[in-house]
Amino acid sequence: MMDVGRHPNITLYTYSEVENVTGFIGNFKVTIRKKARYVDENECTACSDCAEVCPVIVPDEFQQGFSSRKAIYIPFPQAVPSTYTLDMESCLGNNPIACGKCYEACEKKCIDYDMQDEIIEIDAGAIITATGMDVYDPTELDEYGYTRYENVITSMEFERLISASGPTEGHFIRPTDRKVPKTVGFIQCVGSRSEKRGNPYCSNICCMNTVKDTLLLSDHYPGVECKVFYMDIRAFGKGFEDLYMRSKQEGVKYIRGLPGEIEEDPNTKNLILTVENTSNGKLEKHNLEMVVLSVGVIPRQDNKIIKQLLTLSTTSDGFYMESHPKLKPVDAPTRGVYFAGCAESPKDVKDSVTQASAAAARASILLNAGKVKIEAITSRVIPDKCIYCGICARVCPYHAIVPPDKKTKTLPKVVEAACAGCGTCAAECPSDAIIMRHFRDEQIMAQIESILSEKPEEKIVTFACNWCSYPGADLAGTSRIQYPPNNRVIRTMCSGRVDEKFVFHAFKLGAPIVLVSGCHFSDCHYINAVRWTQKRIEKLWNKLERKKIRPERLQLEYISAAEGQKWARVIKELEEIRKKVTKKEIEETMKILSE
Ligand code: FES
Repeated sequence: MMDVGRHPNITLYTYSEVENVTGFIGNFKVTIRKKARYVDENECTACSDCAEVCPVIVPDEFQQGFSSRKAIYIPFPQAVPSTYTLDMESCLGNNPIACGKCYEACEKKCIDYDMQDEIIEIDAGAIITATGMDVYDPTELDEYGYTRYENVITSMEFERLISASGPTEGHFIRPTDRKVPKTVGFIQCVGSRSEKRGNPYCSNICCMNTVKDTLLLSDHYPGVECKVFYMDIRAFGKGFEDLYMRSKQEGVKYIRGLPGEIEEDPNTKNLILTVENTSNGKLEKHNLEMVVLSVGVIPRQDNKIIKQLLTLSTTSDGFYMESHPKLKPVDAPTRGVYFAGCAESPKDVKDSVTQASAAAARASILLNAGKVKIEAITSRVIPDKCIYCGICARVCPYHAIVPPDKKTKTLPKVVEAACAGCGTCAAECPSDAIIMRHFRDEQIMAQIESILSEKPEEKIVTFACNWCSYPGADLAGTSRIQYPPNNRVIRTMCSGRVDEKFVFHAFKLGAPIVLVSGCHFSDCHYINAVRWTQKRIEKLWNKLERKKIRPERLQLEYISAAEGQKWARVIKELEEIRKKVTKKEIEETMKILSE
């Protein structure tokens, strides 16, 4: 942090928030609100005279509430810049009479109660999102008594208690009697790996954090007995298995099973854990002096704001989704935006540093090049056809289209550097006023016509997206999986490109079955374009029904690149449906759609 603060090429905006981001790769404009500290950070020498006289005492967030701080304070010992901040919410000055003691005590007169937030605008070529994570709050798990029993603490609280810079200067004591506990239990997966009790995903770091904590305890207090209650210990990673083994050798007991409940002995304040030991199938009770809840990692609460500002997408667990899990693991779907650390998924320090280095390298490649090459698959507006409805701008997952203005007859403008080429705008435009380069209507229509030029009643017309379903079909082929050969695939970059007129055209030319296949929701390479596909197909099913065409003849599937088997199964099932579509039904459909 100090190095960053001193680096000539880095400007650190601390105590600041990003308020707005506009622009695109190479040309972002970022608006930052630098909050008022009410202390001149260039003049403050952190002498602490102000804090010594401040009469307001509040719980210290950094110390997890185990100690207190003043209303004028330094957030944590290594804070950069090392300067005081006045917490106006707590200051008497807000209440409503300023006591002014800090002002009087400050020799250099750094304190300014009238300081205002500052709005700063910067130009950025690339953005690295390293917003970190929050930790799971175990108050909802009543069975562990976190809110009822003082001697039940979280792993974050443990961290502060055992830290030399913590409130007890590294003396691990139990809150009720301030004595070193003789027995400490650690409960794993609190808020992780459970749909009903927190979050379904593994938080990645908790197992090794507990192993480290048990070693720290054994090292500081050789007589302390540690018991770890777990589902399974995930000790993958360099040197981690060794660490786990060392912890066992130190005498730490690992008990397979998560406690059902914790009760407190009102006299001794000891904690009685009831647990089914799944290694021997027995119900056990453990008497412990302290319990540490190994709490999981959750996405930051303000992830949603950044998500909107940068047009990002998140996975179902709320972490940011990368552009491609294997090929672009640090890139966001929005060009010029990269991820580092737990913003993208729970990670330990080593993985965070690795990802941060990769993100910095990706950003510097971009900035050093000075120019950006983009794929020519972008959309273009046809001025004569545009009716200024603005649907294109609304559906664009990248906000790459500046909306039109009907009053001033301003056409929508495609920002080509931001357009990723999903084709959703072209598919949704009600007046066919958008051309998708390389995936133009005429090109796709010509493919449909070619497929159905001979024996159309025997064909299955399939639209498959470039990134998941098409490679899924490829995998089925390269794996030599057998499936009906009458399936004909038209590739589009995203399923979002599949216009309803393509489907109607296929039926009009005698197709018995049409399949639209895209990525699973969280895998679509164009943020949320596949959701537009789903909406469009649902509308189409209603339209088909109204036209007395069996909606079953239009199918929507989500098939990933790894699902060659699923591809083959789906095509086999469709072939069964196709066999039941009679010649008469096809002719009737063709007639209805020709009217
Ligand atoms: Fe596959 Fe969007 S890229 S559905």
